[in-house]
Amino acid sequence: MSTNGKRDGFSSTLAALMVALGSAVGLGNIWKFPYMTGTGGGGAFLVIYLFFVFCVAIPIMISEFVIGRRSRLNAVGAFRKLTGNPRTPWSGIGFLGALSSYLIMFFYSCVAGWVYSYTFKAATGAFANITKESAGALFAETIGVGGAEASFFSSTVLAPIFWQVLVLVVVGTIISFGVARGIERAIKVMMPALFALLVICVIRALTLPGAGDGLRFLFHVDFKQVTPAVILAAMGLAFFKLSLGMGTMITYGSYFTDDADLSVSPLKIAIADICISMLAGLAIFPTVFSFGVEPGAGPGLLFITIPLVFSQMPFGQLLLFAFFLLTAFAANGAMLSLVEVPTSWMSEEFNIPRKRAALINCVIIGAVGILAAGSADGSGYFGGISVFGKGFFDLFDYLSSNVAMPIGGFCIAIFAGYLMKRGELFDELSNHGTLHNEGRAAFIRILMRYVTPVLVVVILLNALGIIKL
Ligand code: PHE
Repeated sequence: MSTNGKRDGFSSTLAALMVALGSAVGLGNIWKFPYMTGTGGGGAFLVIYLFFVFCVAIPIMISEFVIGRRSRLNAVGAFRKLTGNPRTPWSGIGFLGALSSYLIMFFYSCVAGWVYSYTFKAATGAFANITKESAGALFAETIGVGGAEASFFSSTVLAPIFWQVLVLVVVGTIISFGVARGIERAIKVMMPALFALLVICVIRALTLPGAGDGLRFLFHVDFKQVTPAVILAAMGLAFFKLSLGMGTMITYGSYFTDDADLSVSPLKIAIADICISMLAGLAIFPTVFSFGVEPGAGPGLLFITIPLVFSQMPFGQLLLFAFFLLTAFAANGAMLSLVEVPTSWMSEEFNIPRKRAALINCVIIGAVGILAAGSADGSGYFGGISVFGKGFFDLFDYLSSNVAMPIGGFCIAIFAGYLMKRGELFDELSNHGTLHNEGRAAFIRILMRYVTPVLVVVILLNALGIIKL
């Protein structure tokens, strides 16, 4: 998008929406949402997650879009311009965003590596005659279970690293050759294809014996098992899912056309994103119950169930290959926006040419990301090391979604709600008065000022045990 350094904007609101959706839709929908709903207890988690999407994520996305379009700059430059102060502490949000991007990329590139590996495995027929047991074994092999007992140079340890590095080579190449535009065009084709394939998965899953139990799990709301940690995880997922609190959407907002309605675009993006997540959930949970997989199985849930969905189905192997290929595309799209954050931050802040900045970032991500690849399972090569009681994989995930992004989002909402003048905010939300949506703008401003930031703080304090909800 901004790979050539030119700020050329998007031809239409639809194009800008699609690109923002390209960042939002990714492994979060297909991998993370289902497994977290599984570990979070099903329906209750879903309800809490949706609450955070509407009361926290959407107001923050509106704030990011407003800040981005008002300034027509990325996160660092935007705060400098809007405050009129080149040394404003608000540009620290840009730094925090770069930090979040790194933390996410460390484990995201690893999971994307598993998806690449599954795409390859599907192409070579590894999933023919798959059973619940062999699916579990295949996943264990993919993530390097038992690596702690092996030497670093064994295939157990090196295979997941190989795929992760391949992911980074692909993403780095796309960024440095400046073909992101082409990829984004590809995503616009791939996204509907992924949608269609998910619908096929759902139909198949719903016709499996015992599918009803999966639906009951997904829609039966029981708040009894909800802990402060589960509430925080649901809020973190809302940030992660919609790529918020780190400046990504500020950059995308800066490309919106003047006539785009920023007060409703985030709602559309969030609803489209929820639809894709729900399709993934509707494909996975009936299968989980039909085959007797543990719903709280964790990060392996997608990788164990999807091969089972397609087993014993006409063209199953071909569809399975298509499924992982499209998931790989969605993951690549999200990663382009992730690597973009530290790349533009680094090139603006330290005057490093974009290409070099992209390369440096991919190397950093690869070097640290190896720690995630070796710790996805406790028995992995680095699985024995724990920091703050967590392995690296979980730590990177936790710090980004549950700490850095909420803090960034809080600051962004405060900036839009308090630092920007009421008239300035309304001007941007109403496209200089042409939309006549004063009432809606006033409502959004109330959310930005009194609801969203308060919720973020309350949930963080609740998780820390400082207050009790
Ligand atoms: N939203 C992406 C997903 O769900 C992940 C992401 C987070 C992308 C933050 C960019 C920034 O897969």
